[in-house]
Amino acid sequence: MAGKIKTVWYCSSCGNESPKWMGRCPACGEWNTMVEEPKAPKESNAGGVAGRSRAYISTTDAHPEPLNSIDFSDENRFSIGNAELDRVLGGGMVEGSMVLIGGEPGIGKSTLSLQIPLHCPHLKTLYVSGEESAKQIKLRAQRLGGDDSQCLVLSETLLENILEHARSVQPELLIIDSIQTIYSQSIESSAGSVSQVRECASALLRYAKETSTPVILIGHITKDGTIAGPKILEHIVDVVLLFEGDTKGSYRILRSIKNRFGSTDELAVFEMTGSGLREVSNPSEILIPMHQDDLSGVAVSAMMDGTRPFLVEIQALVSTAAYGTPQRSATGFDSRRLNMLLAVLEKRSGFKLAAKDVFLNVAGGLRVTDPACDLAIVASVLSSNFDLYISPKICFAAEVGLSGEIRPVSQVERRIAEAEKLGFEQIFISSFNRSDSIKTKDGHIQVVAVSDIPALCRKLFQ
Ligand code: TYD
Ligand code: MG
Repeated sequence: MAGKIKTVWYCSSCGNESPKWMGRCPACGEWNTMVEEPKAPKESNAGGVAGRSRAYISTTDAHPEPLNSIDFSDENRFSIGNAELDRVLGGGMVEGSMVLIGGEPGIGKSTLSLQIPLHCPHLKTLYVSGEESAKQIKLRAQRLGGDDSQCLVLSETLLENILEHARSVQPELLIIDSIQTIYSQSIESSAGSVSQVRECASALLRYAKETSTPVILIGHITKDGTIAGPKILEHIVDVVLLFEGDTKGSYRILRSIKNRFGSTDELAVFEMTGSGLREVSNPSEILIPMHQDDLSGVAVSAMMDGTRPFLVEIQALVSTAAYGTPQRSATGFDSRRLNMLLAVLEKRSGFKLAAKDVFLNVAGGLRVTDPACDLAIVASVLSSNFDLYISPKICFAAEVGLSGEIRPVSQVERRIAEAEKLGFEQIFISSFNRSDSIKTKDGHIQVVAVSDIPALCRKLFQ
């Protein structure tokens, strides 16, 4: 048996290790994610729980010290020349931090990461690409414009070489595009496998902490789970940013999923143009396309995503069901919640929707989770059902409860202020929001308080 490579099974979703194949990973519960790989050598950091890199702890001269003697100021953060990205990071990049930017192929991860050094010319950056040659990177940089004098590029896939170059060049920012294309000599499996991804990320984390150099990792997300998804990396890195959006459309949303140095509620919107990603600093403008015609089934919601108010258009289409079972489908919204809202309309307010198909869409490819969208959804469904249009100068911000009551939402003043800024004339909120105490800035917007759905219909359609 000498020389036989010992293999183990890893879950490609969470990185859990098992001596044998299993249909369902006992750690994360995902089905059909176990992949067979050579076992990582004992001395490597890949073994054990991801993120608890033993060698990293032992190689430093760390010792216990009082928390109040530790110095951390905003000087340890720096701007990377992109206001939207800085905000999602929690106010800039933190020295020695590791940031993962994940997303589907073609969404714009390489574009965004190459734009950082080009738009921040004083920052000495090493951009390592395992996917493109130096010439291809140059071609992309030419399209993006900016100053490329401080941007070093390296087309390399071997981790040990990358680290050696990084130690000699001493960049102020290291970008790895992508973590799935690089591999370490100490692991026998191929690049992109669970153990490689884990080993390479741990080694890069050690480099980041030892040299206080921030590292940006790019990670691909694949739907079939055949290569190690960034899920394994989530434990290792400090910040996880996910790119969302339709690759065919031009808008992209960068959302913070995990942030050890800031809020995870942050979100940035970018537009893919012929010369790279443009920051969209006021997303409401793109999310509420202004219609010339008076269309029924359209309502605008004053929602919050994280700390920012947004105005987003909700579109509904209600039509007589062509088949026996009516269809209900929602894009950008939880379809179970849509079903719940339809049941409330049916049971509590007597609208006959059981024999109707209901389609719901959130404009701009956005996914909304804010319960304050409920009222706009209900309004758009009723508008389509009665074929009565809602003025584009009206918006909504309230939750709808199971008994049909219209419930208050948080930060209603900020939602009203945003709607007022964008020229809305009326905003419908819950009467439990104590609307009398709400002050509008210029008094241009009328606050309409409603307590239940019949009251909403009376004020909206009569
Ligand atoms: P890319 O950053 O290569 O995606 P990823 O690294 O996430 O796979 O972006 C790919 C898409 O972006 C590609 O379809 C072309 C488009 N693109 C533009 O529209 N404008 C540009 O300036 C650039 C560089 C890319
Ligand atoms: Mg790429």
